[in-house]
Amino acid sequence: MSVYQMRTGSWQTLIKPAAEVRYQVFVQEQNVPLNIEMDALDNECEHVVIYDQQGRPIATARLLPNDHIGRMAVLAEHRGQGVGALLLKTLIEMALIRGSKTVFLSAQLHALPFYTKYGFNAYGEIYEDAGMAHRMMRNELSN
Ligand code: COA
Repeated sequence: MSVYQMRTGSWQTLIKPAAEVRYQVFVQEQNVPLNIEMDALDNECEHVVIYDQQGRPIATARLLPNDHIGRMAVLAEHRGQGVGALLLKTLIEMALIRGSKTVFLSAQLHALPFYTKYGFNAYGEIYEDAGMAHRMMRNELSN
């Protein structure tokens, strides 16, 4: 079984590893324009970065002040090994610790079944963001 390390912190402390992973996943792989990928909200968020055994950053995500989870990204070669689940459970735990009752996210349609596994339910219409189909999801943490 793989051993991972994890760091949580501000954008200031995690900008380098988080931006590196996000650039590879969103800009290079999913063709999201860099000016959309990097927004002004990062400074207000709590961030998580997961590292492999060699200390290389392989996954990241952020939790906004309004309890929205965003920028969930696992490098392609590390997918399907539980890293995304670890990331998501950590963000939910961080939200619970600060007293949040519900967490939200804007899910790319392909990822809906992934988030459903961890208690998220889709609501509202499908919409387009950064050229991809999305749907809102929420997870009532008290349930
Ligand atoms: N559809 C259905 N099930 C999925 C899935 C998908 N797209 N992705 C993962 N799962 C399932 C896995 O099979 C696994 O199930 P199991 O526990 O029964 O074996 C479980 O969810 C956990 O998967 P895990 O290996 O932890 O997920 P991951 O590390 O591959 O990360 C993403 C999932 C979505 C974060 C990853 O695919 C990713 O970074 N994609 C590119 C960026 C992206 O699209 N981000 C989402 C933006 S909303």
